[in-house]
Amino acid sequence: MYSEKVMDHFQNPRNVGEIDNASGVGTVGNAKCGDIMRIYLDIDDNKIIQDVKFKTFGCGAAVATSSMATELVKGKSIYEALKITNTAVMEALDGLPPVKVHCSLLAEEAIHAALWDYAQKNGIAIEGLEKPKSDIHEDEEEESESY
Ligand code: FES
Repeated sequence: MYSEKVMDHFQNPRNVGEIDNASGVGTVGNAKCGDIMRIYLDIDDNKIIQDVKFKTFGCGAAVATSSMATELVKGKSIYEALKITNTAVMEALDGLPPVKVHCSLLAEEAIHAALWDYAQKNGIAIEGLEKPKSDIHEDEEEESESY
């Protein structure tokens, strides 16, 4: 059902963790399956992504797609990172079963949310970047954590 690459990235995910004082952090969730993904970006003055880490509380495909997404954006400019779609992530993984396509969308959205956070913090607009719909605000998250 899953390609070897998906299994590899699920079993040995790259770039797992957090970045202290990250330039941008994006957390997104899928209301249907309840999975959550958070991406941390370390962006230098030339707008190059020097480092990227992720944490995913979700299914195996979500782990594999976030792992591959981090690999694809590392070393890229924020503009190049913005162009990396879930389709590109799926292609890099040699495909996903149709029921798992939404997992790759979560990875794309998490990157966009982290770029959005970076843009907000620096008071800049990144052309083509819109506020991610499934963005989870910090306060909402605290509320849900307190239950
Ligand atoms: Fe929802 Fe995979 S089942 S992210």
